[in-house]
Amino acid sequence: MNTVPRQETSPHAPEEPLRQRMRQFYETSERYKGLLAEHDEAYHKPFVELVNRYAPPHSRVLELGCGNGIASRLLNRSGHHVIGTDISALFLGEAEKWQQTVTHDGEHNLEYRVCDVLELPFQDEMFDVVCSNELIEHVPDAGAALSEMIRVTRKGGRIIICGPNLCSPLMPLIDLLRLIRGKPGRPFWGETKRQAFSNSVRNFHLYLKKRLSSKPQFLYREPELGGQVFGGDGDSAYYANPIDLEKYFRHHGLRIVRRCVGFSAKGKLMSICFPRVSLYISMVVKR
Ligand SMILES: C[S@@+](CC[C@H](N)C(=O)[O-])C[C@H]1O[C@@H](n2cnc3c(N)ncnc32)[C@H](O)[C@@H]1O
Repeated sequence: MNTVPRQETSPHAPEEPLRQRMRQFYETSERYKGLLAEHDEAYHKPFVELVNRYAPPHSRVLELGCGNGIASRLLNRSGHHVIGTDISALFLGEAEKWQQTVTHDGEHNLEYRVCDVLELPFQDEMFDVVCSNELIEHVPDAGAALSEMIRVTRKGGRIIICGPNLCSPLMPLIDLLRLIRGKPGRPFWGETKRQAFSNSVRNFHLYLKKRLSSKPQFLYREPELGGQVFGGDGDSAYYANPIDLEKYFRHHGLRIVRRCVGFSAKGKLMSICFPRVSLYISMVVKR
């Protein structure tokens, strides 16, 4: 990786200034808002279908880090009572604009709230389902975020977490193959052949280390918040991966219902053969 890990594990809360800087970034980045606008309904469909598969009818659903709120809206259309939340009032403003201009059946059970996943303003066990897509890699304290998710989920309820597996050795290997074939790699993660190769080796070591450890080992990075935002998770703060999540949830007495679901045909095959190194996290947990 082209950045230096900020800390190896998460025994302490990260320093406050980073948390504030990240909040300010999401509250003000018009360019990031533009990138989120590229995520249309088709983009959110696999995530929404996964949540629907595990949410009983008319569930109380909390979506965390919902950006401009499209997935929350789709979940609401499926008949659930949904609260879509995000740290950014700027991004949620798009969701609220939509609510003011369009009338759909069932939309009265849809609400948006600005809040930080690290300090959720909800009572214990309020929700049947707590879900997030592409959020966990953006938090500077993954343990605190997971603890809040558990707290607000009712006993017997589900937690569903999706997003990129930033510790997958396969992800940079794919970048390397693309670069060898003369195609571009990914910004930040595999821009050059050397970077893609060293990241793949590094992630393989991480995979082994994490598998052998009895506890989750949350590994952080300094997010790229200044200047241009290129997408490609440059703003991520946590090297998200399913092994940490699995260990954290098990350690807190939760049951892993699906370690990895997989969305595409290839993803499904990966989820069966190599659930912990697949490119995407798609984990379902029962409280
Ligand atoms: C990559 S975007 C994903 C947005 C949406 N889920 C999607 O798939 O389009 C990450 C989102 O997480 C939000 N976010 C980052 N840190 C957060 C935090 N601490 N609490 C709540 N939301 C946060 C950002 O504002 C942003 O909307």
